[in-house]
Amino acid sequence: MLNTTFLGTNFRNPLILASGILGINAEYFQTLETKGVGGITTKSFSLKERKGHKNPVMFNDDHGFLNAVGLSNGGIGEAIKLVKDAKKLNVPIIASIFAGTIEEFGEMAKQISEAKPDFIEANISCPNVKEEFGVSFSSNPESASKVTSAVKNNTNISVIIKLSPNVTDIKIIAKAVEEAGADAITAINTLAGMRINIDVKTPILSNRFGGVSGKGIFPVALKNVYDIYETVDIPIIGTGGITSGKDAIEMLMAGASLVGVGTGVYYRGPEIFNKIAKEMEEWMILNGYTNIKQVIGAAHK
Ligand SMILES: Cc1cc2nc3c(=O)[nH]c(=O)nc-3n(C[C@H](O)[C@H](O)[C@H](O)COP(=O)(O)O)c2cc1C
Repeated sequence: MLNTTFLGTNFRNPLILASGILGINAEYFQTLETKGVGGITTKSFSLKERKGHKNPVMFNDDHGFLNAVGLSNGGIGEAIKLVKDAKKLNVPIIASIFAGTIEEFGEMAKQISEAKPDFIEANISCPNVKEEFGVSFSSNPESASKVTSAVKNNTNISVIIKLSPNVTDIKIIAKAVEEAGADAITAINTLAGMRINIDVKTPILSNRFGGVSGKGIFPVALKNVYDIYETVDIPIIGTGGITSGKDAIEMLMAGASLVGVGTGVYYRGPEIFNKIAKEMEEWMILNGYTNIKQVIGAAHK
């Protein structure tokens, strides 16, 4: 009932681990495989190792989850090893990459392709170090398009571009990456945010600012996916605030073909994948659906 295909690859269900969420080692991925995950995205890797930000890097309360991990990662060597290990599992693996320059994005794509992930996801929410003020690649159509071409020109693996909601109009960026050859889009990354400790008049995160994720961003993610679906013909991985089967159904109706689950894993534990799958099936049976393909885009009339 939940099995589906995405860019020609089979998924037992549409529930994907979002990038950066406890995505550290292949043993943990194996646990998620036993807990019903449909596919796995690695954390984002760069060519060189990155230390990330100093603690505190995470804060969580009723308003949402705020993080500024700072894209810490062990570099391309670790990425290749992780993907090769993860490929032994029976679920598709999406290798997430990022870089500070267009050329480095191309190089990352070339090198990670050696490990043969099922897909490459380019996280373009990171700043372009060559641009004045380090504006992120996802914030204008030209740089989003150039990164997409650079990644596509360096691999035969299907390329997913992950977009940021921190833009005036995500539709323009989505169209630009489609025209540059992206095979699919993931939306959304975290929303820019911050919190202040009022007792000491200081931002809570060491980096001052961070990304907001979790339940509160679900309506934002849903609208971004709905808008993108109306704009492009390539498939979408809808991500942001999904914690239940009904959320996942709603995201599919907005136009997502697969659904990313990130902060939900902190709320409901690794069991969340089996739980959401069961909740989706129950809802579909009750409402007379036999296949998730009938649900995808159903809210567009
Ligand atoms: C702790 C943490 C680390 C993250 N690291 C990454 C990352 O390395 N690369 C990336 O593309 N997105 C990263 N994200 C963003 C998530 O993949 C996802 O797009 C976002 O959190 C919205 O989904 P959610 O509300 O289900 O968490 C991270 C999110 C969190 C909470």
